[in-house]
Amino acid sequence: MSTFRISLHQAIYSLSDALDLVGVTHIHHGKRVAYIAAECAKQGGWSPDRLNALFQAAILHDCGVSKTQIHARLAQFEWENEAEHCGRGAELLEGCDLLRPLAELVLRHHTHWDVLQGLKLPQTVKLAANCIYMADRIDISCLTVRGSEANLLLSKDHIRNLIVDRRGTWFAPELVDLFMEVSQSEAFWFALENEHVSGYVAKWMSESEALDIDFRELRNLVQVFSRIVDAKSTFTREHSDGVACLAHYLGELMGLPERTCEMLELAGLLHDLGKLRVPDELLEKNAKLTAEEYADVKRHSFDTFSILKNIHGLEEVALWAGQHHERVDGSGYPYQRRQGQISLESRIVAVADVFQALAQTRPYRGPLEPPAILAILKDEAARGRLDDNVVAKIEAHLMECYRASLPK
Ligand SMILES: [Fe+2]
Ligand SMILES: [Fe+2]
Ligand SMILES: [Fe+2]
Repeated sequence: MSTFRISLHQAIYSLSDALDLVGVTHIHHGKRVAYIAAECAKQGGWSPDRLNALFQAAILHDCGVSKTQIHARLAQFEWENEAEHCGRGAELLEGCDLLRPLAELVLRHHTHWDVLQGLKLPQTVKLAANCIYMADRIDISCLTVRGSEANLLLSKDHIRNLIVDRRGTWFAPELVDLFMEVSQSEAFWFALENEHVSGYVAKWMSESEALDIDFRELRNLVQVFSRIVDAKSTFTREHSDGVACLAHYLGELMGLPERTCEMLELAGLLHDLGKLRVPDELLEKNAKLTAEEYADVKRHSFDTFSILKNIHGLEEVALWAGQHHERVDGSGYPYQRRQGQISLESRIVAVADVFQALAQTRPYRGPLEPPAILAILKDEAARGRLDDNVVAKIEAHLMECYRASLPK
């Protein structure tokens, strides 16, 4: 098993960019919540460790939401089913060693302070969770007023009043007091604009050191995000996992080194990350997409690449994942590369993606059996679209490939 040198902050930041896409129009919510929460905590003199955990949890706090429809509901100031996405997010983080310490904060990020106080939890956890809750409601209020006022500064008093009114009930008094201090200045509100908030978070990211993590830990981390993607539609459940396992296996069949096979597995897990931006209805649509809808779907592999390209140590994974819709004859997207310009690894991910999708149900057809899958792959290879050497390996190991592609 190989070791990867990765900055955890950088990975969380980049992958949270994918989460931000679920907002479709309301993007950067996670980053703004992290900024607001961190400003309050700094004002309160929190230790660097507490601040770090707060920041990471704040950036990821809505990881339980992959559906664009549900994201739209988050924008209401009060919302009945809010506990559902908290539980789902916490469960995802629980499954990952590196992110487990954040699970409790995410679980409680919509719990009112008067309830939270009665729970058996360390005070630092209660305060961090409540700080994320308060920051989240502040950003939602900004979103609601932004429609009516071009300049957020004009809504400053209105938003501050909304928070003060809930001092001691929804939010811890000490957190409200910290917010009142930091939100006094104009700069606090100007910094909530997109380019400033991205810069603020990017600075945090650059301050972290790279860690050596082994493949299993990295896979574990990456899987949190692939699960978010796959949860977007019932049809794509465990699609990424199947593509990952099959890509790894095909790498072995093609005689590639173990480390390359592991990277292929990561590329498989991450290849559809950009789909988080695609409205749910399009993935579930039981009819031909309109030209406009198809254009929306087509940008997902480009978005995958732009999210991953900034994670040092995963540059090649980003490339292979971002090229999974490229075709050998140049008919693919988004770069329209052709034979000789597409690496073997990208071609492997492309074949694994088609194979796994054919093995699953789609809104317009049922799952296909191995011989039918092979017939389609061979036809695609014959037409010069998929790599014929990779398809030949599949033909020689059809049942093993089929098993690798199925949910475990
Ligand atoms: Fe939120
Ligand atoms: Fe895709
Ligand atoms: Fe896919």
